[in-house]
Amino acid sequence: MKFTHTEAYINGEWMVKNKTFAVTNPFDNTEIAQVADCDRNDAKIAIEAAHQAFQSWRKLTANERSKILKKWYQLQMENVDALARLLTIEQGKPLAEAQGEIKYGASFVEWFAEEARRLYGDVIPGHGSDKRITIIKQPIGVVGAITPWNFPNAMITRKVAPALAAGCTVVIKPSDLTPLSALALAELAGQADFPPGVFNVITCKNPVEIGEELTTNPLVKKVSFTGSTSVGKRLLKQAADQVKKVSLELGGNAPFIVFEDADIDAAVDGCMASKFRNAGQTCVCSNRIFVQENIQAEFTRKLSEKIKTLKLGNGLEEGVAIGPMINEKAISKIEKLLDDAVSKGAKIPVGGSKKKGLFFNPTLVCAVNPAMNIFKEEIFGPVAAVYSFETEAEVIQLANDTEYGLAAYFYGKDYARIWRVSEALEYGMVGINTGMISTAVAPFGGIKESGFGREGSKYGMDDFVNIKYMCWGGVS
Ligand code: SIN
Repeated sequence: MKFTHTEAYINGEWMVKNKTFAVTNPFDNTEIAQVADCDRNDAKIAIEAAHQAFQSWRKLTANERSKILKKWYQLQMENVDALARLLTIEQGKPLAEAQGEIKYGASFVEWFAEEARRLYGDVIPGHGSDKRITIIKQPIGVVGAITPWNFPNAMITRKVAPALAAGCTVVIKPSDLTPLSALALAELAGQADFPPGVFNVITCKNPVEIGEELTTNPLVKKVSFTGSTSVGKRLLKQAADQVKKVSLELGGNAPFIVFEDADIDAAVDGCMASKFRNAGQTCVCSNRIFVQENIQAEFTRKLSEKIKTLKLGNGLEEGVAIGPMINEKAISKIEKLLDDAVSKGAKIPVGGSKKKGLFFNPTLVCAVNPAMNIFKEEIFGPVAAVYSFETEAEVIQLANDTEYGLAAYFYGKDYARIWRVSEALEYGMVGINTGMISTAVAPFGGIKESGFGREGSKYGMDDFVNIKYMCWGGVS
């Protein structure tokens, strides 16, 4: 296997730890590696190294930083297959999806290598005849990035590429379930000639104490987290004491609405793409599928035919569309949601049960209603829950009836309704006649309890800079 690092990466060096933890392949539970189990003290060392490196990294020209980022991007693209294989082995997603993730991840590096050179300031007409006002954007400092297991590569690059481009340095704490992809990125960062201390990865089994250090160490000026809403709230509370800048990309409860004038085949395809990507384990997966009453029979029949074709198995095998769930906890959550739904009247025409190991059969659940837990909670599995609605007003109310506000989708042709519904949905991102919204060129992020901050796009560097205003007086 290429990319076999199991040590932490601190200050440009690989740090061996006597204490390690096992990383397993969710396909068959075999052990892939024993990885360095860092503690709070290691986090302090990494933060100190990042702080030292910040003093010179911030002084490079944007073009110099851009060149190093471009080299890192190129190395990722040269190694797509090896990085994707590693990702599939530790995370389980099908190889084609893993290759897609590596390219998606690299696209953030390419984008921000370019954006590095466009971190413009501003000049504002002064408030007095002798006054001039100028604005500059300065890198915020050391950034702590805490990243999840469902996108072990792309959630790192999406955070650290804009940070590095702006002149910040980073300490990354990847998920203990998928640290190898993070370490592979560190290997390539070394090859790309990032100066020591600019890019650090600390791996650990117990995320709590490292999370505490990243949110309370005064040298860390910003924490960016992707993961569950409950952990996000804890990190936010911890960071509050120092009023540390935070970005949170948290859970979702995405509505997927199909209006009667929609192209039903396109809506079914969009629904499959948004529901079953990564076996339903993404924050932007459709969680509640609302179909207008008079097209429900046709939509559900077509959706069920497609769901039945999904092949489960080892992500490394050709033709596999659905890999394993990440762990037992994920499976028991799905089972509980389905049991609750069935006990309240839902029907399961397709799937509905687990298979050997960590596999869960792709499932269609119908006759679902808002009294069921599945309406409120993020499923994070291959379960399509279909609801029925009659009017636009009713479906808007249902779609917004959640504390989450990450992604929403709808299909329909009436352009006036497209505007009305887009404006009425209380979400950070809306897919209109598409189930795929993720791209480096658009601002990814949520509102309400799905978090704040935007990743990707021309807005993606805003979270990593301080805006400074300089008021010039006596200009006469
Ligand atoms: C996520 O699930 O958090 C990210 C998904 C994406 O970037 O598309």
